Amino acid sequence: MKNLEAVSKLFQDPASVKVITTVSKEGEPHTIVAGSIMVVDENTMAVAEVFMNTTSANLADNQKVALLAVKGMESYLVNATVEKRHTDGGLFDTISGRFAAMNMVVKAVWTFAVDKIYDESAGPNGGKQLF
Ligand SMILES: Cc1cc2nc3c(=O)[nH]c(=O)nc-3n(C[C@H](O)[C@H](O)[C@H](O)COP(=O)(O)O)c2cc1C
Repeated sequence: MKNLEAVSKLFQDPASVKVITTVSKEGEPHTIVAGSIMVVDENTMAVAEVFMNTTSANLADNQKVALLAVKGMESYLVNATVEKRHTDGGLFDTISGRFAAMNMVVKAVWTFAVDKIYDESAGPNGGKQLF
């Protein structure tokens, strides 16, 4: 992602914990775990809407999100903007297929344009903007 191999690798690692923070139109932040947060290409991230209610309502009202992955002492934060809520198409079908194998139904797939990337690891680079 943005040619930052370590960032893509951590978000694609099934063993990393991934969270998404959204903000309501009244300004209330809301953070949830979302294992489906993924890298689509160097400019685009996505998440599957499976159980989410508050998050999806916030995404409809406020397009700014924070996506964070952590594993051990390594962590990266991606600030992004909603592109689209997909309820059909190739990406939706691919992700729906993966969840169907776990007996879960994907209501939609949200895609986000990457705005900024920060290293948030526990170390001297913590807080450093990478993109
Ligand atoms: C390990 C883990 C992974 C999860 N992954 C997803 C996910 O990919 N998509 C999703 O909609 N909810 C996922 N959830 C559930 C959300 O954390 C949350 O409980 C649910 O979506 C309700 O969100 P809301 O408070 O925005 O309505 C996951 C929960 C856990 C513990």
